[in-house]
Amino acid sequence: MEFASSRLAPVKPSASAWVSQAAKTAKAAGEDIIDLGLGEPDFDTPPHIVEAAHQAALAGETRYPPTNGTLALRKAVSDKLARENNLTYSPDEIIVANGAKQVLFDGLMATLEPDDEVLLCAPYFGQYKDIVLILSGKPVTISCPASNGFRLTPEALDAAITPKTRWLILNMPSNPTGAVYNDNDLRTLGKVLEKHPDVLILSDEIYEHILFDDAAFLSFAVACPKLKDRVLTVNGVSKAYAMTGWRIGYGAGPKELIAAMTKVQSQISSGACSVAQAAATAALNGPQDEVLRFKLAFESRRNLVVDQVAQIDGLTLAPPGGAFYAYIGCEAFIGAVTADGETLKDDADFTAFILKEAGIAAVPGSAYELSPFFRISTAASEGVLKTAMDRIAAAVVTLKPRKPLT
Ligand SMILES: Cc1ncc(COP(=O)(O)O)c(C=O)c1O
Repeated sequence: MEFASSRLAPVKPSASAWVSQAAKTAKAAGEDIIDLGLGEPDFDTPPHIVEAAHQAALAGETRYPPTNGTLALRKAVSDKLARENNLTYSPDEIIVANGAKQVLFDGLMATLEPDDEVLLCAPYFGQYKDIVLILSGKPVTISCPASNGFRLTPEALDAAITPKTRWLILNMPSNPTGAVYNDNDLRTLGKVLEKHPDVLILSDEIYEHILFDDAAFLSFAVACPKLKDRVLTVNGVSKAYAMTGWRIGYGAGPKELIAAMTKVQSQISSGACSVAQAAATAALNGPQDEVLRFKLAFESRRNLVVDQVAQIDGLTLAPPGGAFYAYIGCEAFIGAVTADGETLKDDADFTAFILKEAGIAAVPGSAYELSPFFRISTAASEGVLKTAMDRIAAAVVTLKPRKPLT
């Protein structure tokens, strides 16, 4: 019997979840595997945040919360956006959801008609495409090559917009590349978008605090104030506060859009978990020193991985500007032959090779629609990352390259 509807047919299981499952299976079979597949901070949620949830539960905050989020949390988000981003949003222009993932779903579900086009900047976080497909929209991939720091150019954006374009999704710093956009980058993209008043912009800023080299974060709606009334800013506490399991994200945008998203959410999950909302409120209102500690740790790991990759002939990596991933080029090994006589045809073969030969679980670039690359997460200690890179180095020297490495 067929259970899944045709709506689900185009949706493939998440590649990073698949890689992590393969890593778990290999580990269970006794293999020594380092899993650099999944993207979540390896830190604990700071204790004052956990304590706020505890106190909220004891104080009876255990009933259905409002669908769009508790007023306390929406106020905390409003204050955060003003304080950190210079953005003005009132609590009724804010929605709280079960993670940023649900904000993305709410936003797209509330607005997409069948066959509406959604512009995705490849390589991109795979869930964007899957949500669009589930909603019978049309994902349109714009290739953003390494030669431009994996950033969208105004020319490529201009060429991709059609009368069917409903959304542009931007993500900065980016998963999987760590790409960041400066003021000028955003303003020139904004100029293109000004010519197309029907295009909405979703700016996924969930990695905003994991930004390196003393760069200051700039929200899309601040760089392009003329577009603010068609921007949905998406953010959450998962990455900045090591709170992936609490499932709290939020979106800020025009009141009518937020109202439509609230309607969607009311039919799916209602309000997000009440005690998790109390925890997120404490995260946003409380001391921010742990956020800085996490960022500095990620920056130090980024430096380590960049140094290690530079020592491996055939792999390439420009320093990621933020987030906790490295999107490593492996072009030189496509077509290479393993000691068993197998040819590595693409980056999926390359990641299968490093899983088998080096015990390293990584996600192939094909999962993000830009090959040949593989993504590792740097959410692991420096010791583990060093061991992982040493093992990759030892594995690739056993390959017979298709042409001499330069
Ligand atoms: C770019 C991006 N957006 C959104 C999310 C979802 O975050 P959340 O845990 O808040 O649902 C992730 C998680 O990996 C992500 O990488």
